[in-house]
This record gives sequence, C-alpha cells and structure tokens, in this order.
Amino acid sequence: MTQLSALPLDVSPPQAYAFSDADFTMIAELANRKFGLHLQTSKKALVYSRLARRLRALQMDSFNTYCAFIQTSKGETEHPHLLSALTTNVTHFFREMHHFDALRHKIMPELIEKAQAGRSIRLWSSACSSGQEAYCMAATILDAFPDAQRHDIKVLATDVDAAILGQARAARYPNEQLNAIPPVFRDIMVSKIADSPDHFTVQQNVRAIVTFGQLNLIEAWPMKRKFDVIFCRNAAIYFDKDTQSNLWARFEQALTPGGYLMIGHSERLSGPAAQHFKSTGITTYQKINTTA
Ligand SMILES: C[S@@+](CC[C@H](N)C(=O)[O-])C[C@H]1O[C@@H](n2cnc3c(N)ncnc32)[C@H](O)[C@@H]1O
Repeated sequence: MTQLSALPLDVSPPQAYAFSDADFTMIAELANRKFGLHLQTSKKALVYSRLARRLRALQMDSFNTYCAFIQTSKGETEHPHLLSALTTNVTHFFREMHHFDALRHKIMPELIEKAQAGRSIRLWSSACSSGQEAYCMAATILDAFPDAQRHDIKVLATDVDAAILGQARAARYPNEQLNAIPPVFRDIMVSKIADSPDHFTVQQNVRAIVTFGQLNLIEAWPMKRKFDVIFCRNAAIYFDKDTQSNLWARFEQALTPGGYLMIGHSERLSGPAAQHFKSTGITTYQKINTTA
C-alpha cells in the first residue's frame, strides 16, 4: 500500500475540467469590466478551483461552455455567483476596531454638533457584506448620541451581492460572533431570538438607523446627498489600480468637506484623489477642505 507521505509532494489532483488560457482571459476580462476585479494570470489555479464548483452546480462539462454562457443575456444571472466565487464576504463585528474608536471619539462629537444644529448626517458602509460593519456604525452612533433617533442620522449600507444583502437585512448571527462585540456594545446592539437560542439579532433601534441597498461600486451611484463618513474596507483590494484610483476620487466627491474615509488594513489611497485627503489615523482619512 502506498503511504501518503511516500507520494511526491508536487502531485496535484487531475483537473476535472479543461481550463485554457483563453477561458481564463475571458473570465478575467468580464470580471474586470463588470466588477473592477483584477485577476492576474498567477491566479489561474485559484480561479479554476473557485469556479469549478459553479460548473458542477450548473452541470456544465467545460469552462468553454461556462465562458460562452456568461456572455449571453441569460448568463447575466451567473455574474453575481461568479463575483461571489472570486471574492470573499468574510467580515465580523468591530473588524479593525480603530475605525470605530475614531468614529466614536473623534468624529461623533463633530457630527453631534452638526445634528443638533438641525443638519442631516449620512454615513455609508459601501461594501457591507452581511451587515456587521453597518450595524457597528449605527451602534457606535447610538453609544455616542443616545438621542440620535430624534435627529436625521442614517447609515446607508450597500453591497453588490444580493444574496449577502439578504443576510444583512435578516440580521441573524450565530452566537459565536458575540465574542467580537465589546460588552458595552452588547448592551446597545444585541437582542436574543426567542425560538433560536444559538443565534442573536440586532436591536431594533440600531437596525432603524441602517438602510440596505444593492450597489456595484464601479457603476453609477444614484445617491444625491454627500456623506459625512464613508467606510470602504476590504473590497477595493480586489480592484485593479485604475479602478481603485477612480473609486477614491469618487469617494472624495461623495464626501462633505472635512468628511472621513475609512479603508481596509491592506489598502492604500492612490491616484490624484490622494492629495485631497490627509491621514488622521490608521487607514483613516479626512477630506481636505478645499471646496465648499
Ligand atoms: C471582504 S468583504 C468586506 C466587508 C466589510 N467591509 C469588512 O471590511 O469587513 C468584501 C465585500 O465587497 C463586496 N464587493 C466586491 N466587489 C464589489 C463591487 N464591485 N461593488 C460593491 N461591493 C463589492 C463583496 O460582495 C463583499 O461583500
């Protein structure tokens, strides 16, 4: 009997589906055009393994068939699955806590003054995944400003992935995720679910501050109002350089003068927009007040 340890280490399982360079290029181009994704040739094996399960689900026998399908109008229904397979929805409550500290202690005092002067306050969680980021923003607002609901303060939460937005709206999370929520915020945001002891939900007054919507960051944005704070964390990392630079510029336009932009730990501001921001903390930027 051959022992596992006796097998040469470089033997990989045979590929079930042929995957040519032309197939890879077609998928990479579509993912870039539709979603701004940047798939280098070195990611070919990863793309194969992520999409092979889509071929199985669709009962297709080759990448060639899959590529032909995703270019048809009927095949557009597959695009969100393709995006989900090639990116990750991983998130958690209070991820990158320094952003919530900055929101609570530096930004909220400014926003409370603005709200008390009768002006509206808008925050945007722009790649919100299953909603934890947006709910943490709302809980941070309520912690700083328990009266928030008497003012016009809202968090818009968007993502391109309709399925993950369904989870965000449902606001039902396994109890293991409680560990990431500091005790003070558990009181503000956590609520038990009577018939589901293994899960919790988010308190109604926190949920009331958040509105969810589907939005592809690389397409047009319908929102007219400017934002005081934008979180765009751990999504731009998938985009090519031009898409990233363009996105930072659009965020700069979408922010109020002096507004704040929070980005992910491995992301950097780039392109001409970078000069319109100053760093005020770890991956935290404030729009420089050049325009009214
Ligand atoms: C890793 S999650 C980040 C969630 C959260 N912002 C955080 O940092 O924990 C990345 C999210 O970006 C979303 N995304 C990827 N491309 C997008 C695009 N073109 N427009 C909007 N959202 C996108 C994905 O659907 C996914 O939910």
